[in-house]
Amino acid sequence: MKVIFLGAPGSGKGTHATRVKLALDVPHISTGDIFRENIKGGTPLGLLAKSYIDKGALVPDEVVIKIVADRLSREDCKKGFILDGFPRTIRQAEELKKIADIDVVINLVVDDEAIVKRVAGRRMCRCGETYNVAFLNGSNVCAKCGGELYQRDDDKEETVKSRLEVYHKETAPLIDYYRKEGLLKDVDGAQSIDKVYADILKVLQ
Ligand code: AP5
Repeated sequence: MKVIFLGAPGSGKGTHATRVKLALDVPHISTGDIFRENIKGGTPLGLLAKSYIDKGALVPDEVVIKIVADRLSREDCKKGFILDGFPRTIRQAEELKKIADIDVVINLVVDDEAIVKRVAGRRMCRCGETYNVAFLNGSNVCAKCGGELYQRDDDKEETVKSRLEVYHKETAPLIDYYRKEGLLKDVDGAQSIDKVYADILKVLQ
């Protein structure tokens, strides 16, 4: 199955894609994770991406499109994949259409006020786990690997506001784009994590 997770920053795309990939047994491809790995490794791509991500801006289309096209051409994507954070512009969607037949686009709906709260509270572990201070009971340690949790550089309040502006201008038009294609399924992303996950599984059945 070929699935896109669409939604504002902090709407829960990563949280749910991580669970759904196990249910579908397909790779989870997050363009944000690819950039963060490259930033960590100090690669030329990482340096370029960081100059955009730190401002809350989008990495240029031609850079992202090439990365995703390369990734989707790998053997493990033949049976399906979950795209998280791509496409983010109409141009990216048009390019994706040329290389893959998408089965469903899950649009996680969460209002801006809740987004700002969630993203400000997000904490990450180097092992890839994501947490929120609201559920950590004061702990700063990963329950999975014991690593110390940290805040993403682009989760600072000012950057989150820029990311939301960019989302409304560049990415939200994809909602109509995929609705017209008959692929869009809205899921209320403001519910509890387990309820959102259950609704996503219903859509995928
Ligand atoms: P990316 O990493 O894709 O960031 P994003 O889209 O802004 O999404 P986030 O990772 O912030 O949030 P999410 O929706 O995954 O939410 P999460 O599950 O973590 O991209 C980063 C940057 O890279 C971009 O700004 C851009 O510069 C660049 N980039 C990436 N892709 C690009 C592209 N295609 N084109 C151009 N540039 C690109 O959840 C958030 C928090 O909420 C967590 O703490 C979680 O625990 C909590 N939470 C989740 N669900 C719930 C719930 N139901 N109830 C309560 N809390 C919840």
